[in-house]
Amino acid sequence: MSRIAMAIAATLAAATGIVSLAGAQTAAPSASAPANPYVRGPQDGAGLFLARCGYCHLEGGTGTMMLERRLGKANRLLAERTDLPADYVKAVARNGINSMPTITRVEVTDEELDKIAAYLATPKKKAAAK
Ligand code: HEC
Repeated sequence: MSRIAMAIAATLAAATGIVSLAGAQTAAPSASAPANPYVRGPQDGAGLFLARCGYCHLEGGTGTMMLERRLGKANRLLAERTDLPADYVKAVARNGINSMPTITRVEVTDEELDKIAAYLATPKKKAAAK
């Protein structure tokens, strides 16, 4: 085997190793349901909230702005609220409310919404996140 052929073989072996490692990592998070490939980052309630609701419900988002207008400054950030029952969060997400559009099961599965709702319903989430 020429030197070049050996170098190519070594590179291929290394590359295959990396690919199989990456495959093992993406398969890891959940045994019951396959991880959603469209969600980046952690897929717990907090991570899903950031990925799926954050672009409207973090600082500067339209959800934050509209909630401040309707409910006042103290109630504008969902992640800081202590008065959001999980069933209310799920009903709002599936039906929309005022200027918030309906979030479909294609965008956020029932399983994901359960996790997001449980996270938003946890009174001490702000302290827990610190
Ligand atoms: C496209 C922007 C947008 C996205 C994405 C979005 N929301 Fe909203 N949301 C809004 C707006 C705007 C409001 C305020 C509507 C109003 O009252 O005028 C709102 C309001 C809410 C409320 C009502 C709070 C209250 O006190 O009545 C809940 C609960 C809520 N959103 C949950 C979610 C969840 C959970 C997600 C992610 C699955 C999400 N939203 C994604 C825009 C968004």
